[in-house]
Amino acid sequence: MTSLPASQQVAIDGPAGSGKSAVGRRVAAELGLPFIDSGILYRAVALVALQRGTDTSTAKADCLARLAERLRLELLPDRLAIDGLEVGPALYTPDVSEAASRVAEVPQVRAALLPQLRRLARSGAVMAGRDIGTVVLPEARHKFFLNASVEERVRRRQLQQHGRGLRPDAAALRREIEDRDRRDRERSSSPLKVAHDAQALNTDRLDLDQVVSSILSSVRRS
Ligand code: C5P
Repeated sequence: MTSLPASQQVAIDGPAGSGKSAVGRRVAAELGLPFIDSGILYRAVALVALQRGTDTSTAKADCLARLAERLRLELLPDRLAIDGLEVGPALYTPDVSEAASRVAEVPQVRAALLPQLRRLARSGAVMAGRDIGTVVLPEARHKFFLNASVEERVRRRQLQQHGRGLRPDAAALRREIEDRDRRDRERSSSPLKVAHDAQALNTDRLDLDQVVSSILSSVRRS
């Protein structure tokens, strides 16, 4: 880990709908670094498992881990390509969200994805997720933890889903977010938590520009 360009790594963690991806993408563009949304990897494992009819619970841990190990990842200038999968709306359906949250509880899946995530960030990156500052890039120089109330996160996720052409029901979305939060916080392997050296930001009353500038000024100061 010490050989990693930790000063060029920005970790942005937080629960579902906290704005990590939108913020991370803008911060990365400003800093001239690639943006990596680690959630996409869990979603890809879940999507492939669902397509093959593989059970997404810990009962099929080894099978899911093999699937995760074999994902072919490629960091293109504008996006992360996964096994030729179209990184689009299919990854964001309620079924895939639910299954992604379940496969993320499987320690063998996390262990299989960890070296791949580290490899993607080795030349510097802004990476968003749940355990980036704590486990994936513990030596990253810049760490942020975004949070917001569940109401605000549901509102944002709904807007985001509209942009993807999906029409989610607010009550169902809230249940999905609360369930995923609980699983992320309570799992034994790499649970969602604030890294001891991360800067926590509550974004309830901040718009995207304000969060992005707050992160950029902190990165540029240190
Ligand atoms: O961020 P996103 O909602 O796309 O992530 C999908 C799922 O992947 C989350 O519900 C979470 O359980 C899992 N995940 C994770 N660790 C990460 C990124 C995502 O456990 N670093």
